[in-house]
This record gives sequence, structure tokens and C-alpha cells, in this order.
Amino acid sequence: MTRRIFAGLAAAGMMFAQQAAAPKEQIEKLAPYYPTPETVVQRMLELGALKAGEKMFDLGSGDGRIVIMAADKFKADATGIEFDDSLHKQSSDRIEKMGLKKTARIIHGDIFKQDYSSANLLTVYLLPTSNDKIRPMLEKQLKKGTRIVTHDFEFSAWTPVKTVDIDDDGEGRSHRLFLYVR
Ligand SMILES: C[S@@+](CC[C@H](N)C(=O)[O-])C[C@H]1O[C@@H](n2cnc3c(N)ncnc32)[C@H](O)[C@@H]1O
Repeated sequence: MTRRIFAGLAAAGMMFAQQAAAPKEQIEKLAPYYPTPETVVQRMLELGALKAGEKMFDLGSGDGRIVIMAADKFKADATGIEFDDSLHKQSSDRIEKMGLKKTARIIHGDIFKQDYSSANLLTVYLLPTSNDKIRPMLEKQLKKGTRIVTHDFEFSAWTPVKTVDIDDDGEGRSHRLFLYVR
């Protein structure tokens, strides 16, 4: 029952791996788009103890839902990074419509090319192999005490300080969250 958690992004990841044989683009695609349900977004931000005014980054921000909730509900300074043109536009438009431009933004670029040294919290929903790839960069950049919350997939070389299982997100799917503190 519990291992249903990997069904979503992992299945999308398998399809994605098959597509990855297509001509190489400059930006390495670390996961296909597969959104975190809103109820789980809230649990991620609560697990990460996000406070008003803190800086958070969502690595691969999709439609921007984590960034938007972080700014709107948790009053944080929130930044997403998203390379996909249409997801970048969709999320940026929503931020503008919601009047959140001062505290939320989506960088149209590559997860590997950003500076996370100011972060208090990172949220990550990428494939396990991608977590392994970004880990050295994060180890170099993150200041002591930065919290990292991952959805469904862990950083295999790090020990989580807390793991949370969500048995049902309201749509019959279960999830696992990992909290790390650098
Ligand atoms: C599984 S989705 C997660 C979306 C969002 N964080 C959420 O949890 O709802 C992963 C996202 O990462 C983006 N992505 C993958 N590789 C990337 C890269 N190298 N730079 C920027 N975005 C990337 C994908 O386009 C996709 O939107």
C-alpha cells in the first residue's frame, strides 16, 4: 500500500527516460512535469517550518503552486526555477494576477545555474538520480541550517531529520516527504 507513493512521478519518469533519447538540449531535464497536489504542498511548507520573510526556492517549479502558496499563505519570499517556456509563463502570469510580484517570482532557467546560498528552505520534487546530481552543488552553496524538503524521493547520501507519510492526499494517492537540515 505505502509504495504506491512512487507511482506518479516515477511512472512519468519512465516515459521521460524513453523520450530522453531525443536530441540533447542544453538544459538537463531533471524530471518531467508532475505537480504536487495542493494538500501535499501545504504539508511540505509546514514540514519545512517556512516563516514569514524567509527565502525559499522550488527547484523545478512547474505551474508555480509551491512558490505561490509559500508567498501567499506563508508570506515568504519565494523563487521558482523552471526551464519549460509554457510552465514559466503560466506560473509568472498567475503570480502577476494574484498581486504577488513583490514576494514571488519564477526564474526562466536551469536549476544548475542558480545561487541558493541565501535560502532558508528548498523544496524539491525531482527524480532520485537528479537528487544525486544536484547534491554536490547544494553541499557547496547552502548555508548551515538551510532546510530541504523533498517529495517522494530522498537524497540517498543524506540522512533525513524527519520523514512524513501521507496515506491519502484526498485522491487516493500516498506520498512521502523528507526533511533535511544542512
Ligand atoms: C516533478 S515536476 C515538480 C513541479 C513542482 N515543483 C511541484 O512539485 O508541483 C519537476 C519540474 O522540474 C522542471 N525541470 C526539470 N529539469 C529542470 C532544470 N534543469 N531546470 C529547471 N527546471 C527543470 C520540469 O519542467 C518540471 O516542471
